[in-house]
Amino acid sequence: MAKAENIVWHDSKVTKENRRGLNKHKSAVIWFTGLSGSGKSTVSVELEKELYSQGVRTYRLDGDNVRHGLNKNLGFSPEDRKENIRRIGEVSKLMVDAGLFTLSAFISPYREDRDEVRELVEDGEFIEVFVDASVETCESRDPKGLYKKARAGEIKGFTGIDAPYEEPKNPEVTIDTDKLTLEESVQEIVHYLKEKGYLE
Ligand code: PPS
Repeated sequence: MAKAENIVWHDSKVTKENRRGLNKHKSAVIWFTGLSGSGKSTVSVELEKELYSQGVRTYRLDGDNVRHGLNKNLGFSPEDRKENIRRIGEVSKLMVDAGLFTLSAFISPYREDRDEVRELVEDGEFIEVFVDASVETCESRDPKGLYKKARAGEIKGFTGIDAPYEEPKNPEVTIDTDKLTLEESVQEIVHYLKEKGYLE
C-alpha cells in the first residue's frame, strides 16, 4: 500500500473539549473483547440502550457490521485481524474526538493490537471490557452455528478452536457472562463509568 506524502495536519476551531461541553459528558471508547459468542454484541447493544436513556451520546461499532462495509476487504488471517483492529481503533478515536462514547465490540484476539488502540487515544479514553466466557460455554451457545462449522473443518482459523485468543491482563472491567445476567453485566459497566467519573 502506498504511503501518503506531503500531508499537513489542519486544526479545527471547535475542539474535543468544546464538543464534550455541548454533550455535557466525557467521551471514551468502551472496547469489548472476547470470544465469538461470549456476549460482546449483546452486552454492548444493551449498554448503549442504557446510556441513551441517560442522555449519553453513543455510537456502536461491531465486528459483523463493520466487516460488511469499511472492512469488507479483510478476512481472518492474523494480518487482516490486525488491520481490522487498527482501522476500528482509528475510527473509535475519531468518534471519541467527536465527543461520543464509542462502544467497539470485536473479538480483537491479539493483546498487542488492543494495546495499540489504547496507545492511540489519550489516558483514560480506553476502557477495556473483557467479556469472559469459556470456549466451552461459547461453543454450547453457538448462536450462529460457527463453532459447529469450525469443528467440522468448514471454517479454518476460528478463534478459540484453531486460532488464538489472548485474554487481557489488566482490563478495566471483566464481565463473566457465564455467571452474570445481561442486566447485571450492563450494571457492572455502568458502575465502573460512574465510579471513575465518566458519568454523573
Ligand atoms: S477480529 O478477530 O476482531 O478481527 O474479528 P471481528 O471483526 O470481531 O469479527 C468476528 C465475527 O466474524 C465471524 N467470523 C469469525 N470469527 C472468528 N474467527 C473466524 N475465523 C471467523 N469467521 C467469521 C463471527 O461471526 C464473529 O462474530 P462474533 O460476534 O464475535 O460471534
